[in-house]
Amino acid sequence: MSTPAWLKQAVFYQVYPQSFFDSNADGIGDLEGIVTKLDYLTELGVNALWINPCFESPFRDAGYDVSNYLSVASRYGDNAALERLVAEAHRRDIRVCLDLVAGHTSDQHPWFIESSRPETNEYSDRYIWTHSPWFTVDGDLRFISGTTDRTGAFAINFFAHQPALNYGFGEPNRSYQQGYDEPGPCATRAALKEVMAFWLDRGVDGFRVDMAASLVKRDPHGIHIRRLWRDVRQWLDANYTERVLIAEWGEPERAIDAGFDVDFMLHFGVPGYDALFFGPESRFPPGRTACYFDASAEGDFRRFWETFSFQHERIRGKGYLSIPSGNHDIQRPSVGRDRADLKVIQTFLLTWPQVPFLYYGDEIGMRYLADLPSKEGGYERTGSRTPMQWDDSALAGFSGAPEQLSHLPIDPSPERPTVAAQRADEDSLWHHVERLIYLRQTEPDLLPDAPIELLSEGNGYPLVYRRGETLLIAINPGSHTHEVRLERTGDAEPVLAYHCRVGHEDSGWILHIGARGYGIFGIR
Ligand code: NOJ
Repeated sequence: MSTPAWLKQAVFYQVYPQSFFDSNADGIGDLEGIVTKLDYLTELGVNALWINPCFESPFRDAGYDVSNYLSVASRYGDNAALERLVAEAHRRDIRVCLDLVAGHTSDQHPWFIESSRPETNEYSDRYIWTHSPWFTVDGDLRFISGTTDRTGAFAINFFAHQPALNYGFGEPNRSYQQGYDEPGPCATRAALKEVMAFWLDRGVDGFRVDMAASLVKRDPHGIHIRRLWRDVRQWLDANYTERVLIAEWGEPERAIDAGFDVDFMLHFGVPGYDALFFGPESRFPPGRTACYFDASAEGDFRRFWETFSFQHERIRGKGYLSIPSGNHDIQRPSVGRDRADLKVIQTFLLTWPQVPFLYYGDEIGMRYLADLPSKEGGYERTGSRTPMQWDDSALAGFSGAPEQLSHLPIDPSPERPTVAAQRADEDSLWHHVERLIYLRQTEPDLLPDAPIELLSEGNGYPLVYRRGETLLIAINPGSHTHEVRLERTGDAEPVLAYHCRVGHEDSGWILHIGARGYGIFGIR
């Protein structure tokens, strides 16, 4: 397996399509809206997209409940619009990755409708069914019964309307459970490849795979889930070049070993992400102890570093991990933080050895809107999914629809950040992110495979690290000033710095860093 070369240069931007830009004034974002904003994305400097699911769906989980994998949801446009988006993005050297909801479908999917019939048919084994509607509890598997005429209960993967596709059981131990190599699971795997091929043939550059670890059930050693993805990987490499597989797995070592190119550190899976971003005061998910990016400086970077350095070492040369700025499932990083804090966070993310994923709106510090009524199965997640704030016109420039048509409310704050205001302000978060992305594209030592050496000790206030031979980086999320002695001679030229400088003494360098300071220095 070879990871496509473009990936290490990639800075991803995650688009939640319903909330990005509405081109036809119906109150909901669409694919043509993304095309309209491609030049904006080029100006920001990102060069790859992950688009949340945009396929036909009853939208009871924002599109993670697919009812037709091969057809774009009409509210977003049609398949021709997606092909046009891919072509227009490619013309600007932007890659496009789709969301592959591999583990489950909507209960409205024709496969499930057929599968739930009492008569045996081609789709009877496409999902996991027990033999009795009264058999609904089996360890950690969750089942639903009483909603169909088939005598049995079906396993679900997430919400009750998301039946789990049948990829088989690693160690089947009940009569309803099929082995990985039985015909039902084999047919499901073939169907998955058909779905992937359909969009790969239309030029997409890869997939972010939803709940990638969840497909094979009762697979305690992960042998069969690894077989499954390795087989997909081989098939992909044999038939398509330069395509990427991005896992929502949360255990980079396992995901990369299974053939993925990238996996996320997240609020589940291996620990460490929470330790950076979520303290006990977080809206959701709440952390247990103070997080590192907190002006109180009560967090501890080592809680992240221990996991990161281990995972990073294990996947070296085989794939990458990603630490997203946020996503549609967690609160935005702006909760409890101001612009200065967010600049420190972005400095960290864009200089760290990882594949950056910037969630739409995080480049301007969009707020998390707490207590919004749930929309499309969002629950608390809804507050991170509100429309993009482009300017100060009605509906923040997101849509020309009457306000009541907007699928979610716009941030009502008169101080809500907008792209237009921040682009007009050289000191804005937007410009900071733009500069960092530019630096990342032009400094080879900022790429994910360039070495990292942690120079600071203790809890990481301040955090000082070297990237490759040419860059020294320091950040201080806390509100105290620090001085750090570094045994080094030579020059340290600031490339991008705030409240941060390097002084030279006979014994070496002294790094001065103030509250919420950051500095990137070219060193010789
Ligand atoms: C993870 C997705 O990110 C989330 O939004 C979704 O609800 C679940 N998987 C179920 O597909």
